[in-house]
Amino acid sequence: MCGIVGFTSRETSAVGPLISGLRRLEYRGYDSAGVALESPDGIRVYKQTGKVAELDALLKRELPEDERGKFTIGIAHTRWATHGLPTTVNAHPHLADGGSLALVHNGIVENYAALRAGLEKHGVVFVSQTDTEVLAHLIAAFDHGDLLAATCDALKRVEGTYGIAVISAKHRGEMIVARKGSPLVIGMGEKDTVVASDVSAIVAHTRQVIYLKDGDVARITPEGVDIYSLDNAPVSREVQEVDWDIGAIEKGGFEHFMLKEIFEQPDALRNTIRGRLDAAEGTAILSGLGLSPRELAAIRRLVIIGCGTSLHAGMVGKYLFESLAGVPVSPEQAAEFRYSNPIVGPDDWVIALSQSGETADTLAAVRESIRKGALVSGLCNVVGSTIARETGRGVYLHAGPEISVASTKAFTAQVTALLMTALKLGRTRRLSHEEGTALVAQIERIPDLIAEVLKESDAIAKVAEKYAKSDDMFFIGRGILYPAALEGALKIKEIAYVHAEGYQAAELKHGPIALLSDETPVVALLADIPGKEKTLGNVQECRARKAPVIGVVTADDEAAAAAVDDFIRVPRTSVELAPILSVVALQLFAYHVARLRGCEIDQPRNLAKSVTVE
Ligand code: F6R
Repeated sequence: MCGIVGFTSRETSAVGPLISGLRRLEYRGYDSAGVALESPDGIRVYKQTGKVAELDALLKRELPEDERGKFTIGIAHTRWATHGLPTTVNAHPHLADGGSLALVHNGIVENYAALRAGLEKHGVVFVSQTDTEVLAHLIAAFDHGDLLAATCDALKRVEGTYGIAVISAKHRGEMIVARKGSPLVIGMGEKDTVVASDVSAIVAHTRQVIYLKDGDVARITPEGVDIYSLDNAPVSREVQEVDWDIGAIEKGGFEHFMLKEIFEQPDALRNTIRGRLDAAEGTAILSGLGLSPRELAAIRRLVIIGCGTSLHAGMVGKYLFESLAGVPVSPEQAAEFRYSNPIVGPDDWVIALSQSGETADTLAAVRESIRKGALVSGLCNVVGSTIARETGRGVYLHAGPEISVASTKAFTAQVTALLMTALKLGRTRRLSHEEGTALVAQIERIPDLIAEVLKESDAIAKVAEKYAKSDDMFFIGRGILYPAALEGALKIKEIAYVHAEGYQAAELKHGPIALLSDETPVVALLADIPGKEKTLGNVQECRARKAPVIGVVTADDEAAAAAVDDFIRVPRTSVELAPILSVVALQLFAYHVARLRGCEIDQPRNLAKSVTVE
């Protein structure tokens, strides 16, 4: 989704850092980009549709190297269109006050039509179709000599969400930033200050960061950072150290971030598990949950909320918690949940799953659950993200930054974290010491088992070659493998643009089977766990309709391999681990199909990494 970068320095030109910051945000998905630079002769703006490389080329043409030194303050943006087409005019930064004020914005101004009409009555002429331009003019209208006060006055009138950065030729040397519902981080370098909507645009400069909270507004100058509330009261925010280094967000020799992230799953999961298993007691140590055994034992129901891949991990969680802890679980799509006037209360434990910790629908569902008195935890990857902070308790995935738009390692880390949580909850209930110890041993094996699946990458590529031209596919699984089928279908849809549907294996014959033919491959999840024989029966139904079947089968299960047209092998494992291994195989399958179809794997069309609008 949209990305913001801001830069101020005593001596360094802002141009290079702004462009490299935008490049770091490219993975989030965008359709246009722009920068505004402050100089002694006013604000200069450069905007371009398409890639950051095209904006960079524009700057190279229009702003010679020897002139760049005078621009030490600037703001920049990558836009993902919400209001108005992806055109140069609609790209940010937006200008007001005769071009002397420039603003970049993430989020949505919900009451922009009313605000725009009010400004037009006072003679303001709008050039774009965006909601953001309203904000620029509103701040300019309130500017009576203090840019921070003007920003606060304007923001008090805004309904919706924002992360913004503002500069003005009338207030040289300062940048104002503010956030509500859209993340903003300030990086505190020795000589420079960098602002960004995502910490990955900051780590090249510094690892000392301040995460702004909703309602914060900050004045940034080369002398330092002052943070206030919208009512102008000073607030203090802790400087924190980011534990990701720049190496963690480079491609490391892989052709795509997605492939790198698929292959780093063994290490990522070692980090997720490290220090969290107690083999002697047969349980998990999840101190971030802050829940005593007594509190855990009092939980009557679990609700797991998330979107997309995180929702699928939550659906696996249902099987884990119900079988290991005997607690009923409802996995809920976050947007549906938040608008359903959900029935949750003090006996319920709501677990919010979100890699980014910023997904707008999941965040809103978290807030609704907190309002209703439920116990709410976050299960996030990004440390310091909004969901992690607002829930105040939870389990960090520690999977490292996920750059590729298609989520991979977050899924396996989420399922692993849910498994450890289910083990902990289970041990307060029906899970014996012996069963707990056996599960600990299983969890410890996850990284090595994933490494086994990764060895199959070339074999999976061969299967992918055979089916890469298919435009429609079905993915089927039952029980704990049903959400894995949904996840396999989602991966191939989003990166390979193959129309794919995930179904419970038994559901196919209740309608969808009408679509099967020799042109609709069916990917059947056939790991050797209870239910496999029934799914093999469904495979026969598919083959009887001439649909070619690709089985994801247990390595030594010759009977399953013989029952399908092509197969992908995964190691023999327990029920709990089967979805993790099957999904890793399907991630590779989707990746190879997308590569063979020539798709832009890390930045699929129409998609954004972090969906911060509802
Ligand atoms: C799929 C994908 C999305 C995200 C979803 C939730 O590959 O990346 O479906 O899983 O947008 O994002 P988070 O987990 O950040 O809340």
